[in-house]
Amino acid sequence: MIERLIGSVIPVDHPMIARVEERILRNDRIGAAKIVTGDVASQEPGHPDFLNTVVKQMAMRMSNREETIRAPLNDFAASFIGITRDERSAKELLTGDFFYMANPKKAVVRSNIFRDIVVSNNHYEDLEKEQWDLGKVLMRVPGPDAPMGSPAGQMIATDSTGTMSANPDPAGVLTSRAFMQAHAIAGTNRRLVEYAFRAFMCMPMSEMADTSASPARIGRDIDRFPGGDNVKFETSCKGCHTVMDGFRGAFARFDYSNLTVGGANYGIVRHTQVNNAGGFKFPANAVDANTVIRKMNHNETVFPQGYEITDESFVNNAVGIKNKDVFGWAGARARGGVGVNQFGHMIADSARFSQCMAKRVYEAVCAPGMKSEARITPIVKELASKFQASGYKLRSLFQETAATPNCAVMNGR
Ligand code: HEC
Repeated sequence: MIERLIGSVIPVDHPMIARVEERILRNDRIGAAKIVTGDVASQEPGHPDFLNTVVKQMAMRMSNREETIRAPLNDFAASFIGITRDERSAKELLTGDFFYMANPKKAVVRSNIFRDIVVSNNHYEDLEKEQWDLGKVLMRVPGPDAPMGSPAGQMIATDSTGTMSANPDPAGVLTSRAFMQAHAIAGTNRRLVEYAFRAFMCMPMSEMADTSASPARIGRDIDRFPGGDNVKFETSCKGCHTVMDGFRGAFARFDYSNLTVGGANYGIVRHTQVNNAGGFKFPANAVDANTVIRKMNHNETVFPQGYEITDESFVNNAVGIKNKDVFGWAGARARGGVGVNQFGHMIADSARFSQCMAKRVYEAVCAPGMKSEARITPIVKELASKFQASGYKLRSLFQETAATPNCAVMNGR
């Protein structure tokens, strides 16, 4: 159990082994897991590798386009680790106005919020390179430990001198620098939708495609006669694009770009309503009269009768017979909404979100290296309802998962 929760071999004489064994012999498997994961109520510190290895690797896979752990630590993963450690609702990962950074009093790394967090990844790269214990040094911003003068939640840079404004549409890690860098650079912001569903719903676009859904929101850049063939559109393109293009409006005002100003490089998340003045202002032709980022509506001559995005509204077209039960939509945004924050609420409130988190944790703890498939097994469903009942606490999801008898069987231990 210890090794499943820390992701590596533990020396036979480690003092944690006797304590965990004692709990398991008393049939207190959750208590045993708490010793390894740490636990706020019982003041268990836990093994550092739980957060620094197992939780971090799970988060890293969700944070980049290659879905790999071989990438530098980033703000997305730091938030994921922080939310797990602090036993806060995982729904905040999709809806909250916060980020996690190291407390500068605890970790001596580059910690300027503008220079090292908002316009670059320096801070997180230093933390990883210098092997700081993330479970110990991370702090939530805003939060009680945040340094004086720290910004109120997520920030957007407005020029190279260090001025910043509050993010008008914060949505947890969906609006993190890492997620935007991976999916909002160039393109048409469709990848943001695609990867939000991959990461938090365990659902590839190809599996949620539904050719029976409404084409009303499909963009003007999507050919209705690809290769002169409307049947191809109806039977292929439409399936993905009705669902994806329905959601895509949520991201109508976000963009990520690499800029060079005065010889210095900046990788920045921008929002059309914030970056309308100052040095990081969008070029005139990048934003339209509705303050929608131009790329949302580009290649408009391909099919001019297609949908033009004029605001941040989105509609949920994954509600047909094929998708309805799979996602288990619930809550105020089940049918659609306005902006990324409401899009995040829609995902977080669905049954599929908790099932996906349970599936990811189950695979990380009980079946590392197993080839992932979209199927949600009965064990995963049961873990998902326990996760919901806990108030969406990832740490208790890890404990419950490690404590399931099937987890031990899977590993042959
Ligand atoms: C399996 C799902 C799926 C199917 C089927 C599909 N697409 Fe897409 N399409 C996507 C995704 C995902 C993106 C975003 C890709 C990105 O930005 O990396 C996209 C992007 C696009 C873009 C925007 C490219 C750009 O960056 O300007 C066009 C145009 C497009 N698709 C046309 C089509 C056409 C035409 C068809 C049918 C022949 C089709 N798609 C079928 C998923 C799909």
